[in-house]
Amino acid sequence: MKSLVYKDTGKIELVEKPMPVLQSDRDAVVKVELSSICTSDLHIVRGFVPRANKNIVLGHEFAGTVVSVGAAVKNLKPGDRVSANCETFCGECWFCQRGFVNNCENGGWELGCRIDGCHAQYVRVPYADTGLTKLPDNVSFENALFVGDILSSGWWGAEICEIKDGDIIAVIGAGPVGLCSMLSAKLQGASKIVAIDIDETRLEIAKRENLADYFINPLKDDVCKIIKDLTQGRGADCVIEAAGAKNTFELAYKIARPNAIVAVVAMYEENQILPLPEMYGKNLTFKTGGVDASKCRELVKLISENKINTDFLITHRYKLDDIVEAYKFFESKSDGCLKIAIKN
Ligand SMILES: NC(=O)c1ccc[n+]([C@@H]2O[C@H](COP(=O)([O-])OP(=O)(O)OC[C@H]3O[C@@H](n4cnc5c(N)ncnc54)[C@H](O)[C@@H]3O)[C@@H](O)[C@H]2O)c1
Ligand SMILES: [Zn+2]
Ligand SMILES: [Zn+2]
Repeated sequence: MKSLVYKDTGKIELVEKPMPVLQSDRDAVVKVELSSICTSDLHIVRGFVPRANKNIVLGHEFAGTVVSVGAAVKNLKPGDRVSANCETFCGECWFCQRGFVNNCENGGWELGCRIDGCHAQYVRVPYADTGLTKLPDNVSFENALFVGDILSSGWWGAEICEIKDGDIIAVIGAGPVGLCSMLSAKLQGASKIVAIDIDETRLEIAKRENLADYFINPLKDDVCKIIKDLTQGRGADCVIEAAGAKNTFELAYKIARPNAIVAVVAMYEENQILPLPEMYGKNLTFKTGGVDASKCRELVKLISENKINTDFLITHRYKLDDIVEAYKFFESKSDGCLKIAIKN
């Protein structure tokens, strides 16, 4: 089958690989119908993900059809339409029992990082009952493409902010993850959302999709001042950092009010500085990390009930045959590209 492999050389290449087979009785093999490229895939290709294995098939964001299941898989059967979770988790270990599925003792971010992922015609999904979510008839592959990764990340970023009634949430970065954070924060009760991005096109999308109330471009505006003005001088009640740029961690703690939660969803390519003496007394809570993508069933339900729609994120389409080109195009962010749907 055709597979996009992250080679020893650090390059990506579309090659032929054998079809995946069940390796455990909790596995499923899934025919990939639609997949997408995540910014985290680019972090791997650029060599900034030390835990990524070379010579694996990339990709962890997809929807597809179950082809075969192991004997211990309880909730799925061949023919089921599913969306995938970017995390692999057993559901039983100390961390899984507490909802911290990203740190599952038997998994974590495996697909397309440690084991073969979805940028291929077929993929083996370990712990299929937790790694795949069945789709109702009124949810298409396209509707569900982002459930297990960027939508989960945005939902989780908003959740760890512990949003309370009346809260003003600042979201740094109006990329796919930031936009998903905004729609999640709104559903979780944020009173006002401030979208911050240096890319006007992306701020326009946040405006067009009615995902935020205020729109700030740090290249043109004084972000700290505007946020202070919006909050009687306090600062944002919560900040979701979904940009991951050189200066956005600093911006995040600067625009947060004392005692705020700063949720760092972005994945940095470099260490960040936390100037504790300078921020002494501000009493911030920082939460960071890889998404605990344990709400896929709830998110699919919200999509099925028309309360969430992420279709607007798909701005471009490619065929699996052209995926190397698609990676280049996605990285260029040209032509207003937000997310690419790759059809098999
Ligand atoms: N925590 C997780 O589990 C998880 C999951 C998926 C993605 N991610 C990470 O989340 C981040 C965002 O992903 P994405 O796909 O939306 O990426 P993206 O690159 O498309 O979006 C980032 C946005 O930040 C904006 N930006 C850049 N510099 C800025 C600045 N100085 N001020 C304000 N905005 C600025 C960019 O214009 C862009 O719109 C990435 O680092 C990605 O790896 C994390
Ligand atoms: Zn991802
Ligand atoms: Zn576990």
